[in-house]
Amino acid sequence: MSTSSSDVESIDPDRGNRREPPQLSQENVTPFFPTSPAYPPPQVPVSPVLTLGAFWPVHAPQVQSVLDAGAIRFVTSGRCAIALALRQMAVGPGDMVLVPAYHCASMIEPVIDAGATPIFYRINPDTSIDLKDITSKITSTTKVLLAVNYFGFPQNLSMIRTFCNANRLQFLEDCAHCFLGEHDGKPVGSFGDYAIASSMKFYPIYEGGCLISAHHPLKQLKLESGGLGFEAKVAFNALEISFGYGRLQVLKALLWLPMLLKNAAWNMVKARNSATTTTSFAPSSSEGGFGFDPAWINKRSSVYSRVVMKLVSRRRIGALRRKNYLKLLAALGSLPHSRPLFPNLPEGVYPWVFPLWTANSKPVFDSLKNSGVPIVRFGEFLWPGIDSSICQTSVDLSRNVLSFSCHQEITDDELDWIIRSVQDALHAHGERQ
Ligand SMILES: Cc1ncc(COP(=O)(O)O)c(C=O)c1O
Repeated sequence: MSTSSSDVESIDPDRGNRREPPQLSQENVTPFFPTSPAYPPPQVPVSPVLTLGAFWPVHAPQVQSVLDAGAIRFVTSGRCAIALALRQMAVGPGDMVLVPAYHCASMIEPVIDAGATPIFYRINPDTSIDLKDITSKITSTTKVLLAVNYFGFPQNLSMIRTFCNANRLQFLEDCAHCFLGEHDGKPVGSFGDYAIASSMKFYPIYEGGCLISAHHPLKQLKLESGGLGFEAKVAFNALEISFGYGRLQVLKALLWLPMLLKNAAWNMVKARNSATTTTSFAPSSSEGGFGFDPAWINKRSSVYSRVVMKLVSRRRIGALRRKNYLKLLAALGSLPHSRPLFPNLPEGVYPWVFPLWTANSKPVFDSLKNSGVPIVRFGEFLWPGIDSSICQTSVDLSRNVLSFSCHQEITDDELDWIIRSVQDALHAHGERQ
């Protein structure tokens, strides 16, 4: 079941297993985070992989999404969409942007890149934003409030909209975990002045993010092609990841020779390029880590990603994610030394992952990663300086929440294996010593 692709170098912390320590430089504003031990590749795909089933129309309820929210531009990642949103909102040096203390670095880097200052605010244990703390942090230079619909569960978006209007703040709605869903009958993404999404977390694509606005036109935004190398790489990588997880085996057999030739040509190009340039064909947001590369901000998402997003069944994504989440909740929701972060799945919510708070997370995480269980640790590394004096809840969630994949391409057997593995790990290591 494990992936064996030659070009799939390393995988995002929210997507996979390996994490390179980013270096601080002028081009890459990511601070240095500790290196995690190398774990074996996940046995089950962390994010959706391409299957034939993805295109099957299913009889399931209609699903609202950010695609219904307003004007939309397709870029290569959520972090590039944040950078574009900040530009649209005229954020620059001297401006303050309110960001949650529970975050990942790729949300903060675009703020630094814009020359603005991130001001970290508290969240509550249920991940709702702490408006009292936010109010105490607003000054005359505060321009934007960024709020995250964590793990696919929308914030009280109407209330945040009203709050921003009352405080003359622009609202950036972060739907990176929440591509699908609604609040008060309106699609997620329609409450912010601008919203961003990370399509690669929900669709079987190798790169993809969206900038959305229900309130402003986006036509004037000029985007450029990522080039032929980029277009080829993202399509081949999506196929290879899928083949590596045992999907599309007939296509794999048919493409055996072309893939062999492609790998030979690819290795030659890579060898030649590495001697002359360090430029990659795809953004590092697809290849692993928190890296933010301003060169990709204006690049359009690939033709492959945009076509796949048009063709796959959104109803199927929504229905299967809810089904898998409910199965995980039933099996893992009342185990000792742990608790689900969201013990209910309201109508209209389509989760990104199944987040589980664990009392003794380190050995549980190590043991599951070593078995190849697909786990995401959103917010594992907080921005330097963020500690319990700023937000105790964020530090607790950062340390103790392990999230398990519940995407639409996990098979029933794979989900059963994940459940058994988590149950075993919690029984063996769950109790805090
Ligand atoms: C809440 C949140 N916002 C923004 C991003 C950036 O999205 P992307 O990885 O598509 O750049 C992430 C990445 O995981 C995220 O978790």
